[in-house]
Amino acid sequence: MGQIRAAFLALFIFSAIGAILLESVSGHMQTRLQLLNVHDYEFQHSDFEPNVARPHLDYERCARLHNKIVEIGWRGYNPGKDPSLRSSQTWWERYGEDAKKLPLPISVIEFLKLAELPEDDLSFTFQLRGLSHPSELWNGLQELGYEATEIVLYSSANRESQGMGLIFNHELNLAVYSPTIFDHARNEALLYPLETALMMYLSMTNAGKIAAVPEGKQEDKPYSTPWAWQYYGEMDVKFAVDEFTNLIHAIINRISPEERSNSIKEFLDPNKRSPLIDTGTLHALNMPTSFLRLFLSRAPKPPFSFVAPGLTIPTRSALSRLFASMRVFDMYSDSTFNSLLPPTLLFPSNLTLTSPPNASLSGAFLFGDPQTTLDGVTSGLYIVSQSEHYEPFTNGAKLILPFPLGANGFAKKANWQPIGSQFVLSQNYTDLYQMGSNSFIENHSIMLHQVFQSWRLMVEQGVWDVDDNGVQGGMEGWRLADDEKQWWRFKMDDALW
Ligand SMILES: *[C@@H]1O[C@H](CO)[C@@H](O)[C@H](O)[C@H]1NC(C)=O
Ligand SMILES: *[C@@H]1O[C@H](CO)[C@@H](O)[C@H](O)[C@H]1NC(C)=O
Ligand SMILES: *[C@@H]1O[C@H](CO)[C@@H](O)[C@H](O)[C@H]1NC(C)=O
Ligand SMILES: *[C@@H]1O[C@H](CO)[C@@H](O)[C@H](O)[C@H]1NC(C)=O
Repeated sequence: MGQIRAAFLALFIFSAIGAILLESVSGHMQTRLQLLNVHDYEFQHSDFEPNVARPHLDYERCARLHNKIVEIGWRGYNPGKDPSLRSSQTWWERYGEDAKKLPLPISVIEFLKLAELPEDDLSFTFQLRGLSHPSELWNGLQELGYEATEIVLYSSANRESQGMGLIFNHELNLAVYSPTIFDHARNEALLYPLETALMMYLSMTNAGKIAAVPEGKQEDKPYSTPWAWQYYGEMDVKFAVDEFTNLIHAIINRISPEERSNSIKEFLDPNKRSPLIDTGTLHALNMPTSFLRLFLSRAPKPPFSFVAPGLTIPTRSALSRLFASMRVFDMYSDSTFNSLLPPTLLFPSNLTLTSPPNASLSGAFLFGDPQTTLDGVTSGLYIVSQSEHYEPFTNGAKLILPFPLGANGFAKKANWQPIGSQFVLSQNYTDLYQMGSNSFIENHSIMLHQVFQSWRLMVEQGVWDVDDNGVQGGMEGWRLADDEKQWWRFKMDDALW
């Protein structure tokens, strides 16, 4: 069973990777390096290739990464305390006596002999409670028939009966996050080396996505002691602003100096730039402090209209109209949400969606509410609701197209699944750039800076034409995402949280 599944996975992924050119891979690498910021940890390209079996578990490297995370958690929880006081009891020291009887592979035992248990039952990460108790190692795997090849190495913080966690396949020496047994039943999962998963968790602390803080200091953030979840942080704003600026420069660089408009020449002087939306307008709009507000006030205003095919920059008047007409759904006006912002149209096109005859386009994916429709919605790039507790990543973005994609069968989500669905037509309008499932944490919307980075590569590599009005081509340009030769340029990174 395990072998058939592994063979299926390998076949699936190799045939797809074969089509990917180096350009896109190095683009992904750039984002990863930015986010990982793990200079201290040597890594190889193969760490980021899914479903490539490893001959063995590098238990020493994994234990180093594991213990680093435990230490960061302890330090954050115990500010000012001397780290040498920290208990470094390993899993094997605590459970080894009982675990001797268990059918654990040698390399996993070696790992468990080195991997420290967080003190006081602190959570290992926000979503993983920690290394499984001996009684939890095969939770749910019997039901699925994977108990001979897999263990639930880390249990998820979700304590429901169907909860699983980070699964380690000791035949392939690869791991994948499956919050529940239902997620693990899917065959299309992308498995990575254990060290990759651990590097991802470490990078989440580096990027400030999760921060270890003492009890009571988590403010109103979701807290899984000692980890506080950050809906967005300075790093997210900086990445988005930097990548947006890079995109503008990439566009300008493709226009010969003689052909540059006066506004472009002015933009090249950093002192003459203005923000995308001025503070006065943001204030007048009553826009709450949020990722969106910080982005709009810090990103420079491009000296042209089109930042991508058919997508224009937000203007003060358009944004004011948008806010004035914004329909607040019941779910957003719930008092537990700290603001009333539904998803906001950041880069609008001039086209709206129209349901095809005999079909209805559910607005669930965009608005989160199955009672809504996409019919009449303006197509363009949306930023997700800034209402915290509703979106885990408030720097998430969604591209809503005016036509369905996927009929050619090439367009892919980050997890290599085809875009669109034969059953839910609205997904054909909304799936582009989305990640689908994620191999390391719960899935979420694609992050805005990842979209900008992809756009920049489209400009730099000459796929999109530009003039002094910005990117040319109009909305029809998005059909390229389902093109036999070009689809891969639109596929987002799978090896990222
Ligand atoms: C669409 O609906 C109309 C009536 O509303 C019906 O006559 C037609 O057969 C339907 N077409 C399809 C493809 O279902
Ligand atoms: C929607 O996507 C599915 C799956 O990719 C595809 O089979 C179907 O043809 C698409 N439908 C349209 C109308 O593009
Ligand atoms: C997360 O994954 C599930 C299953 O693949 C999917 O139904 C859901 O839409 C995804 N959510 C996001 C935000 O991508
Ligand atoms: C919509 O925008 C496209 C460029 O994306 C432009 O060619 C077209 O004329 C515009 N249509 C209207 C009605 O403004």
